[in-house]
Amino acid sequence: MTSPRSTTEAAALNIVLGVAGGIAAYKSASLLRLLVEAGYRVTVEPTEAALRFVGQATWEALSGQPIAGGLWQNTHEVPHVALGRSADLVIVAPATADLLGRAAHGLADDLLTNVLLTATCPVVLAPAMHTEMWDNAATRANVELLRSRGVTVVEPDEGRLTGADSGKGRLPEPDQLFATAVAILRRAGLPRQDLAGRRVVVTAGGTREPLDPVRFLGNRSSGRQGFAMAAAAARRGADVVLISANSTLPTPAGVKRIEVGTAAQLQAAVTQEALTADVVVMAAAVADFRPVQVQPTKIKKNDLATDAPAPIALERTDDILAGLVREARNRVMPQVIVGFAAETVESHQDLVRMGRDKRAAKGCDLLVCNQVGGAESAFESLTNEVVIVSADDRVTQIARAHKDVVADAVWDHIVDVTAAP
Ligand code: CTP
Repeated sequence: MTSPRSTTEAAALNIVLGVAGGIAAYKSASLLRLLVEAGYRVTVEPTEAALRFVGQATWEALSGQPIAGGLWQNTHEVPHVALGRSADLVIVAPATADLLGRAAHGLADDLLTNVLLTATCPVVLAPAMHTEMWDNAATRANVELLRSRGVTVVEPDEGRLTGADSGKGRLPEPDQLFATAVAILRRAGLPRQDLAGRRVVVTAGGTREPLDPVRFLGNRSSGRQGFAMAAAAARRGADVVLISANSTLPTPAGVKRIEVGTAAQLQAAVTQEALTADVVVMAAAVADFRPVQVQPTKIKKNDLATDAPAPIALERTDDILAGLVREARNRVMPQVIVGFAAETVESHQDLVRMGRDKRAAKGCDLLVCNQVGGAESAFESLTNEVVIVSADDRVTQIARAHKDVVADAVWDHIVDVTAAP
């Protein structure tokens, strides 16, 4: 069966994390966190019994999306087929003896077992149970049957089980399961490695220009889209340096992070890193102005005349992106430079017009533009909707999607530009 997914969606990998009803479900929360931090999109499908051990709120908070729910929820989306088909990997941790039995015999009495029947991607089952249950002939036979069909059934660890007893049957530690998941995806050729051998620099976050030791001029950029760009590039094989301005987001897996505060610090870092980069992505929101003077001590309101406007003199910062484009033109090695722009426009047409003008003014290869102001376009949002303006004025719309998906769509464009003769 062919998958209905587009290549863009496939690039940001979908993992279904099934959780069956065992005490080790709590460890699965850590596995979920590792997967999400590495940039995978994880849909959690806990069985009813699993929800008795770890509640819905935990899975939703850690995955950043609703749990898959039951067979009878959102039936218009035909979830028992859609989830399995769209998954790049299904991992069940813990897999109880009951779950192994149902999976081995093709039973489909809940959403998770339906997903196991519809999934065409690799499936990993990580059993956890008491030693007697693991050693029981029925379980042994189920495990053999599953393995003979190509399912990866991870060997449980030996050690402390529930209560005072110990033996074989412990769920392996979350970092071991994470490594297994990544290795199995790699074996399946995922994610695509179309940025292998490329050196990529991404700036993200928002700069802060100090007024005095306690105040600054800043902006509302969360850094999420830039961090997603860095994570996606690393997944696709690039050597990635992320220059982060004032973001508290965790460093994506495999990415080297440099912290900066002000526009001048960001400029120094990105100018240096760009010297050897194949691609520079300026996703950071950079201050256009900074206070002419930074006061060495806290500015006191009583030092100013009552009702007088605060005398904060500002000066322009350099346009870093335009400077990078100028330098790139003098290089022998071609370099692709990508800008980002958030605009408070009223319509899609205005966004496209402004995007084209701004891309031409900056001279970058691509400009990724989004509209700000609406409820959905909040800076903290996990989703984004953008238009990508190319150097030939072509405009590509990327519909609202998770920022990871948008990041992969932008990288698809960058790969096209680098491949162009
Ligand atoms: N940028 C930059 N240096 C600056 C300001 C912006 O490199 N001093 C980069 C941003 O990182 C982004 C792009 O330029 O990639 C567009 O940012 P934006 O703030 O929209 O551009 P401005 O030129 O500042 O235009 P505006 O007057 O609309 O703010």
